[in-house]
Amino acid sequence: MKNQKHLFQLPEDIHYLNGAYMSPLLRSVEEIGIESLILKRNPTGIQPKDFFGNAEILKSNFGKLVNCPAKQVAIIPAASYGLSSAINNLPLDNGNTALVVSEEFPSGYYAIEKWCNKNHKTLQTIKAPEALEKRGEKWNQSILEAINENTATVVMSTIHWTDGTLFDLKAIGRKCRENNALFILDGTQSVGALPIDVEEFQIDALVCAGYKWLMGPYSIGLAYFSEFFNNGIPLEETWVNRSNAQNFSGLTNYVEDYAPGAGRYNVGEYGNFILLPMMNEAIEQILEWKSENIQSYCQQLTQPLIEFLRGNGFWVEEDDFRAKHLFGFLLPPNISQETLLQKLNEKKIYVSVRGKAIRLSTHLYNTEKDIEMLIQTLEEL
Ligand SMILES: Cc1ncc(COP(=O)(O)O)c(C=O)c1O
Repeated sequence: MKNQKHLFQLPEDIHYLNGAYMSPLLRSVEEIGIESLILKRNPTGIQPKDFFGNAEILKSNFGKLVNCPAKQVAIIPAASYGLSSAINNLPLDNGNTALVVSEEFPSGYYAIEKWCNKNHKTLQTIKAPEALEKRGEKWNQSILEAINENTATVVMSTIHWTDGTLFDLKAIGRKCRENNALFILDGTQSVGALPIDVEEFQIDALVCAGYKWLMGPYSIGLAYFSEFFNNGIPLEETWVNRSNAQNFSGLTNYVEDYAPGAGRYNVGEYGNFILLPMMNEAIEQILEWKSENIQSYCQQLTQPLIEFLRGNGFWVEEDDFRAKHLFGFLLPPNISQETLLQKLNEKKIYVSVRGKAIRLSTHLYNTEKDIEMLIQTLEEL
């Protein structure tokens, strides 16, 4: 896979190693966004069918990315919305404990914490090991060991959002299924850049904000809900999710039933004429690139950095337990985080700080030069 920087408009003098914060906009996504914005100048061009048609294409494309039917996909405004939709519909009779991993992103954490408090369930956090040796392997082991017949659900991210720890989703999904626990995942930090398969991993809900690795605009995301959720209660009652929504002249012939599959979990006004075409354009580009190619491009690109870090007293997770598009590294004691951040700032190298880790994330718009600049800066320190 070749570098794709020409498809973006990042300024030449910056080194953007921070897609985990927000992806830059593809040129093609920007263009379709502008065209779509202008459509409303003259509303006669927007037909009732347009409230639904774009959504069907988008859901089908997201389904191709994660291996599910379009019918089981909902369009959501934020990860929090999708996670709350799933968590609010968890069964109450399949166990008394909900599992999360330490420092889970707040969008999922608050929802499961609330559910536990409301339903008198125990929230159990599986902490990352203190010791760094074999940290990822041991963390995975303790997650698997914690799942038992008393587990109602496991709510976690596909990879850890602060440091890119890879979780063995297949093994966790299997253990959940064996114990009748629902497996709810926040895919925001990996779906689009790391392959995932909801069938193979026995996932019950997979929720993704769209503005990071799905490379879309802000305020739109996508979620897969397994058939388990098909009769659940949505967060809101919007007319667009009812089975008669496409018949604009008969909307007040009120009906009880919803659009099939996960249709009830779409956000109100989900047919957003600007955001949907943008999101769809981005996902079509990802489908063309293929997530596995993005992952291997990032692996190759960052290999010299990984070697440098390991050879110079920095800590970085072992390869088998580290995503290649997003990972954290810890500084040796003689380098202060403050000094490093100041240097990076001077050189226009963009990364994130999450806890003690420096979080670095790469994509097809990054070049060897970006990585060389980072190594050079670390070397100087
Ligand atoms: C793992 C993860 N989930 C979700 C989000 C965004 O959540 P929301 O869409 O609810 O704002 C982020 C943003 O950094 C994230 O890292």
